[in-house]
Amino acid sequence: MKLVPIALFILIVIIQTSECSQNWFPQNLVTTIRKETSLIKDYVKEKGRNIKQFYIDNVRNKITSYLGLQRQESEDEDSSSRFKRKFKDYIEDAQAKDYMVFDSIAPEVHKYPCSKDDPTIEMTTPQLIAFYGYQSESHTIVTEDGYILTMHRIPHTRNTTDLRPYRKTVLLHHGLLGSSADWVVTGPNKALAFILSDAGYDVWLANARGNTYSKAHVSKKIDTYSFWNFTFHEISQYDLPAIIDYIMQNKGWDVKINYIGHSMGTTVLFALLSTKTQYNKVLRAGYALAPVAYMSHVRSPIRLLAKFSDNIAYLMKLLGANEFLPHNAVLRWLSKHACEINHYEEAICENSMFVLCGHDDKQFNKTLLPLILGHVPAGASTKTLVHYAQEIRNAGRFQQFDYGPEVNFVTYGMPTPPEYNLSRITLPIALLSADNDWLAGAEDVNKLYVRLKNPLERYVVPYKDFNHIDFLWAIDAPKLLYNKLLQLLDDGIVTSNVDLVSSNEIN
Ligand SMILES: *[C@@H]1O[C@H](CO)[C@@H](O)[C@H](O)[C@H]1NC(C)=O
Ligand SMILES: *[C@@H]1O[C@H](CO)[C@@H](O)[C@H](O)[C@H]1NC(C)=O
Ligand SMILES: *[C@@H]1O[C@H](CO)[C@@H](O)[C@H](O)[C@H]1NC(C)=O
Ligand SMILES: *[C@@H]1O[C@H](CO)[C@@H](O)[C@H](O)[C@H]1NC(C)=O
Repeated sequence: MKLVPIALFILIVIIQTSECSQNWFPQNLVTTIRKETSLIKDYVKEKGRNIKQFYIDNVRNKITSYLGLQRQESEDEDSSSRFKRKFKDYIEDAQAKDYMVFDSIAPEVHKYPCSKDDPTIEMTTPQLIAFYGYQSESHTIVTEDGYILTMHRIPHTRNTTDLRPYRKTVLLHHGLLGSSADWVVTGPNKALAFILSDAGYDVWLANARGNTYSKAHVSKKIDTYSFWNFTFHEISQYDLPAIIDYIMQNKGWDVKINYIGHSMGTTVLFALLSTKTQYNKVLRAGYALAPVAYMSHVRSPIRLLAKFSDNIAYLMKLLGANEFLPHNAVLRWLSKHACEINHYEEAICENSMFVLCGHDDKQFNKTLLPLILGHVPAGASTKTLVHYAQEIRNAGRFQQFDYGPEVNFVTYGMPTPPEYNLSRITLPIALLSADNDWLAGAEDVNKLYVRLKNPLERYVVPYKDFNHIDFLWAIDAPKLLYNKLLQLLDDGIVTSNVDLVSSNEIN
């Protein structure tokens, strides 16, 4: 049936484009057919649109009917669990069809319309720091395994006459898909890096391997698996020690570094302190924003991958083996449906950082969106995401990458990966979390807190909707969070000595 209009259409096109059509074909018929042509063109066009719409509706109906069954049970089920079921359904379908199906309904990639009048949008971290009137430095270091990292630094605050770097030192470490830019994009009086600088700290901003500023290696090419063959474990074992040692070389071995991490920036700290335990004595204290170690109660869509995390080959195929790319079709699919539920702006929906970490409309300053989208996602390896997905599946275990029993045996000498032994952490640590955090919920943070030998504080942001990335960019972050953090940093000077003494006594 469908062939009839198409064949007719082709015939008419042939007639119309044929140079001598006027000569051999009766004129009145040509006129009639011309009229028909536009009808048929419309028909085909319409049909085309309908076919696509039909396809989309089909998928949607399937999901809706699936939801319909569940809706009776829990009317007020939250969007993330609805989303979870949607994804489960979809991914099983995709698995059956060998995953190509993702590409077929993923929307086109949209570019957020950036205002060219705003010069900050395309600025790098050091440029942004300088733009806001602070002194900006870049430091390049090479890790033991050959990754080339760039650190950024604000040695002292603006408008000061004393140009020596401040003695008080703080190291900020970004989270998954983040970079040093995370700490500066919102500008003076808002961004943590500037607030700390104004408070008299020498501020160092780390960039983990694989992100915008640390995408280089002494011998490995960045488009090889060999380059991207790392997770947060390698960041904790090679990047962090190199960064901390470098700061100590730069400022003197007696420098006491305050470590502030966000998200993965906290995971790498816990992994470091429980393996290379000498860093418990080197650092002054740790301040974990949205701390991620145990992941039993994660609500981020990343948990939807957990089910497949024992099939590493499949996940790598699904997500791309090397870099976790922002425009990955799976992600586009995920975000499209997350956004249908939540009515977020398209640009937010297409960004892997927002998709994985959530978005809090009320605390998000939309003016900053183009600037933020210019900086995140800053790059991460797919293997890191798989590692996190494994943490979710192995509920209750915070451990190294799981290669499966056979390869584990070769790699670790035992069938299961070694756990990070958190009882070896003696550094005084404060946990600052939020109950609506998709990645670091109250239960998981509590579990972590009771295992710390020297807990400084367990602070919960007093704002119901505060989410994972609000720790960086919330409009009220200074009021809700950074004031408390500054106070803890000050307090620590007094209490950490006591804590160190008591931890020595225990040892
Ligand atoms: C710092 O100096 C700049 C100009 O040099 C000025 O615009 C700004 O208000 C000053 N900021 C402070 C905190 O004094
Ligand atoms: C990836 O890293 C692991 C652990 O460091 C190593 O055992 C393995 O050989 C690496 N694979 C490749 C292809 O580089
Ligand atoms: C949002 O960001 C813009 C640009 O930095 C700033 O001018 C404005 O004051 C911010 N709005 C709020 C509510 O913080
Ligand atoms: C963890 O570390 C503590 C302190 O060093 C030690 O006593 C304990 O045996 C370790 N646990 C495991 C499972 O290795």
